[in-house]
Amino acid sequence: MSLLSLSGVTCRFGGITALNNLSLDLPAGAITGVIGPNGAGKTTLFNCITGAYRPSEGEIRLRGESLLGMPPHRIARRGIARTFQNIRLFPSMTVWEHLMVVQRGGGLRAALAPLGLSGPAPRHRAEQALERFGLAPFRDRLATTLPYGVMRRVELARALTAEPALLLLDEPVAGMNHEEAAGVASLLQGLVADGLTLLLIEHDMGFVEQLCQRVHVLDFGTLIASGTPAEIRRNPAVIDAYLGVEA
Ligand SMILES: Nc1ncnc2c1ncn2[C@@H]1O[C@H](COP(=O)(O)OP(=O)(O)OP(=O)(O)O)[C@@H](O)[C@H]1O
Ligand SMILES: [Mg+2]
Repeated sequence: MSLLSLSGVTCRFGGITALNNLSLDLPAGAITGVIGPNGAGKTTLFNCITGAYRPSEGEIRLRGESLLGMPPHRIARRGIARTFQNIRLFPSMTVWEHLMVVQRGGGLRAALAPLGLSGPAPRHRAEQALERFGLAPFRDRLATTLPYGVMRRVELARALTAEPALLLLDEPVAGMNHEEAAGVASLLQGLVADGLTLLLIEHDMGFVEQLCQRVHVLDFGTLIASGTPAEIRRNPAVIDAYLGVEA
């Protein structure tokens, strides 16, 4: 079953076509990768899905419902969360405060609360996130004073407190050492085992191969290949546009 579908999505900035007639379907409950050279349009794809940018053409649907024209907060409430390529944390806020601030207050939760069906309370969910992401020792520290790998985990935990169905990760292990990246990989596998769907932008091909069932390759805004990591590895167009450059 496809959770998210894009059809013919084009996003232009002046003379630049950052995304060119992009169509793809995202299966639920799996990790899908997006790779491609710098400037290929990967982050633009996330910005279009989350409503930060409005595509010039095309359609984006979540469970069949169009997201076009919806403001970002409404798309977030529909169940899409993201992390950013460059860390975005608040300098004046502790780890705990980051986990309490974005939780979904309205919508379904508010409607279900009187029926006792709203799931764990915000505090409880923040505590669960602290445990799950190994952040309990840093609970009352200012988030931006923490080591880089810990800040990345705070961002991930914060994105999940909104209880999304789909999480978009923009280079989640960029700048991490091998050990930190392995820790994130197993966290992500745990999230998918719990039913989350992930779309992952990453330059680290080993990380992508380890986690993704399916990979899409962008080059100059155009989808040049889709397939399993093994298929992508030996695709001549991908080697030419991207992987060959890496080696
Ligand atoms: N808001 C914007 N205004 C103008 N041009 C933009 C804007 N956002 C993205 N672009 C352009 O769109 C193209 C794709 O950029 P994007 O950030 O999506 O690439 P990327 O694949 O994420 O690259 P990287 O791997 O370096 O993060 C680039 O040419 C970029 O300069
Ligand atoms: Mg990017």
